[in-house]
Amino acid sequence: MNFELTEDQKLLKAMVRDFAQKEIEPKVKILEDTHEFPREFLDKLGKLGILGMTIPSEYGGTKTDHISLILALEEIARASPSLAVIVSVHCSLFCYSIMKFGNKTQKKKYLPKAAKGEMLGAFSLTEPGAGSDAKNLKTKSIREGDFYILNGTKSWVTTGSEADASIIFASTEIKPGVKKLNAFIVEKNFPGFLASKIEEKMGLHSSLTAEYVLEDCQVPAENLLGEEGKGAAVAFHCLDGSRIGIAAQAVGLADKAIEEGVKYAQQREAFGRKISEFQAIQFMIADMSTLRDAARLLTYKAADLIDKGKPYTKESSMAKLFASEAANKIAYQALQIHGGYGYSKEFLIEQLYRDARAFSIYEGTSEIQRLVISRYLLEEC
Ligand code: CAA
Repeated sequence: MNFELTEDQKLLKAMVRDFAQKEIEPKVKILEDTHEFPREFLDKLGKLGILGMTIPSEYGGTKTDHISLILALEEIARASPSLAVIVSVHCSLFCYSIMKFGNKTQKKKYLPKAAKGEMLGAFSLTEPGAGSDAKNLKTKSIREGDFYILNGTKSWVTTGSEADASIIFASTEIKPGVKKLNAFIVEKNFPGFLASKIEEKMGLHSSLTAEYVLEDCQVPAENLLGEEGKGAAVAFHCLDGSRIGIAAQAVGLADKAIEEGVKYAQQREAFGRKISEFQAIQFMIADMSTLRDAARLLTYKAADLIDKGKPYTKESSMAKLFASEAANKIAYQALQIHGGYGYSKEFLIEQLYRDARAFSIYEGTSEIQRLVISRYLLEEC
């Protein structure tokens, strides 16, 4: 067991932190207030190689170990949780699913552009009536000649309105009465595809979340991703990996929230002393830091299992469950330290508190993570 990062991992972490502090942090408030998509930063992250971290060099990427991707996401999330989820979905859900399940033609067509950020990707599983119950999709895919025709509505698509292409899941009847899922690579200009309304969310304002309307959407048959009827395995396998990215996003936000709480406690005075001198505040800081470190360890452990080629479904759900709940508790306490000012938009903690709330919902709610973990434990025993 080794708890030390390698020299390369340390260098990458320092490089992303430097970029995030100098370039992203100063502009985050304005982007969040105006709900503006952070295109400028994505272009730069593409040039830095961050968007290609799940793609090998033969397809134009900068493939690293999974810990490195997690470190990058954590550092981006410290500056902008919105940007972190955009990058995580692009790398771990869009690029990785093509890398893992795509054929050579699909890889050659999509990955080199995606690696550089010239093509931005989304992942669309959820529907208005199917969130946690993700197999129960109403969107239908029917093969007609050289095309699949897709009809239905998809919801809560991170980056949906901005993505050039998306992995879209739809149901298919493989034999009378037997429904399975198909996965497709759908480009935004395919006939019958429309990215419609953008959700007005509580937080993560510069991560735009859209609805897709598919009306006789024509998808070339060669854009089927993986085998006919095996889309559920594409979705759930890719989510196993990307949930570790959401855990990293939660750790990054938690880290920033603690920094803000500690900074405020060392400045604010009450009863003739800095409030950091009160034990009530010191205990909050101790609890927040312990939770953050535990979340980080679970997150790195799950990523390390990927790097070692071992199963990681259960550990990914544990990391996502613990880190997302921890980030919410930490944001709550860090805001509490700020007192009334924490409730004001003048202080960053107000945004972090709102942003954290999404973590225990998207990419599988905390209840779904508990279901996955307990299924594994019951099967193991
Ligand atoms: N890896 C690979 N394959 C898997 C798998 C895994 N971890 N888990 C399940 N599968 C396969 C099964 O083998 C099965 O395959 P076949 O159809 O070929 O037999 C299929 O997937 C269905 O599996 P189950 O019967 O176990 O499925 P289920 O319905 O009982 O439960 C679930 C699965 C865990 C509850 C799942 O529905 C789930 O994770 N739900 C949450 C969905 C979710 O996370 N949504 C997030 C949307 S994406 C998002 O939020 C991104 C964003 O934009 C931020």
